[in-house]
Amino acid sequence: MRKTIIEPFKIKMTEPLTLKTRREREEVLKQAHYNLFLVKAEDVTFDFLTDSGTTAMSANQWAAMMVADEAYAGSKSFHRFKKVVQNITGYTHIIPTHQGRAAERLLFGVTLKPGMKVPSNNHFDTTRANIEAIGAQAVDLVISEGRIPELEHPFKGNIDLERLEDFCREHREKIPLGMLTITNNTGGGQPVSLENIRAASQIYRKYNIPFILDACRFAENAFFIKSREPGQQNRSIQEIAQEVFSLADGCTMIAKKDGMVNIGGFIALKNSTWVENLRNQLILTEGFPTYGGLAARDLEALAVGLYEALDEHYLRYRIATTEYMVKRLDEIGIPTVKPAGGHAVYLDAAKLLPHIKKEHFPGQALAVELYLQDGIRSCEIGSVMFKTAANMELVRLAFPRRVYTQSHFDYILEGFEELKGKAPELRGFKIIQEPEFLRHFTAHFERL
Ligand code: F0G
Repeated sequence: MRKTIIEPFKIKMTEPLTLKTRREREEVLKQAHYNLFLVKAEDVTFDFLTDSGTTAMSANQWAAMMVADEAYAGSKSFHRFKKVVQNITGYTHIIPTHQGRAAERLLFGVTLKPGMKVPSNNHFDTTRANIEAIGAQAVDLVISEGRIPELEHPFKGNIDLERLEDFCREHREKIPLGMLTITNNTGGGQPVSLENIRAASQIYRKYNIPFILDACRFAENAFFIKSREPGQQNRSIQEIAQEVFSLADGCTMIAKKDGMVNIGGFIALKNSTWVENLRNQLILTEGFPTYGGLAARDLEALAVGLYEALDEHYLRYRIATTEYMVKRLDEIGIPTVKPAGGHAVYLDAAKLLPHIKKEHFPGQALAVELYLQDGIRSCEIGSVMFKTAANMELVRLAFPRRVYTQSHFDYILEGFEELKGKAPELRGFKIIQEPEFLRHFTAHFERL
């Protein structure tokens, strides 16, 4: 095997990168109240805000879109999409939605009441917000290793089985469903082992609690299982993914990640208990059950993309990028969450900027400097996002799929060498305006 892992594709269409000066970016940020969500994409050079919906689609996906059947009801494209999802997940009932949080809102709307509780390893912010909007409680039970950024552990996304068992025993009557997020985005894009998923499944079964996967990075999680878990090396990614799905009762899928598309999602379920209610709600707010808020061409792109995400050559290249970045950042002396996650590199802002207190948002300070210096748009995952003093102050660089090349990453690493030297001079921020929910999207900041 060669040392260099290559991008397993060639490029047919290009888009220019914006290159601005630091002074120009300073002006852009002032206009955006120092919130990177409020910056125009055209003012960003490297957009690492999210890996969601930012995928470069393949020629095969674009080709499939051209033959889409845009019938309102029962379109050919829906049936093609349904077959692919059934094949990969093994679930019977497939309900398309326009994206993940629509799936979450529908599912929780049908299953939760105020005062109920939903355990998971870590809930993503929109998942938590949708649970809390109903007056229920989202409970995080990730293993303690998953909360220590620099600690190496192959499956830091695992759920703490002892705590899960205690929690289920104690609150059984209040738990209408239990979850697991694969990979664990909030905890650093860290995978969950097959063994842990099996054990969690047994606990949920024992207490008769339906088990729902937040499966948006299921292919990356399957690759980690294949490469890190003893005994899994000779299985195909698809086989592993299929086994993972078989251990749960259903999933919410944000197809904008491992669906390799720019929009889309679905709920897939083994049995029919919630299906009628879900479809009724779907019709009320998303659309007819055979398109669920999507165009048929989106369903076509997704039907192709789900298989492309399971391609091992693609996954090897994808994970090599995050691993390379973490290794080189380590050499430069920039603290990160270790080991590398699947879709993103998480910088440990608390450790890099120990002089900035939590209440002055070290993550925000780092994210702002990355933009000013190199036009990088990143995302704070810490006390800004979680509204209370978070236990980690992270900055996420989420990598769009099939978009940036090796030399982009090498250029960015040179920038980090520069940033390392000026870290002690960076200053914190305060929030001067914020909304009630999900404040990180629209809050206004001021530099201290
Ligand atoms: N669950 C997880 C684990 C996610 O990462 C996301 C979105 C969602 C649910 C919600 O899905 O955006 O389609 O409504 N994550 C994106 C991110 C936004 O940047 O990590 P959505």
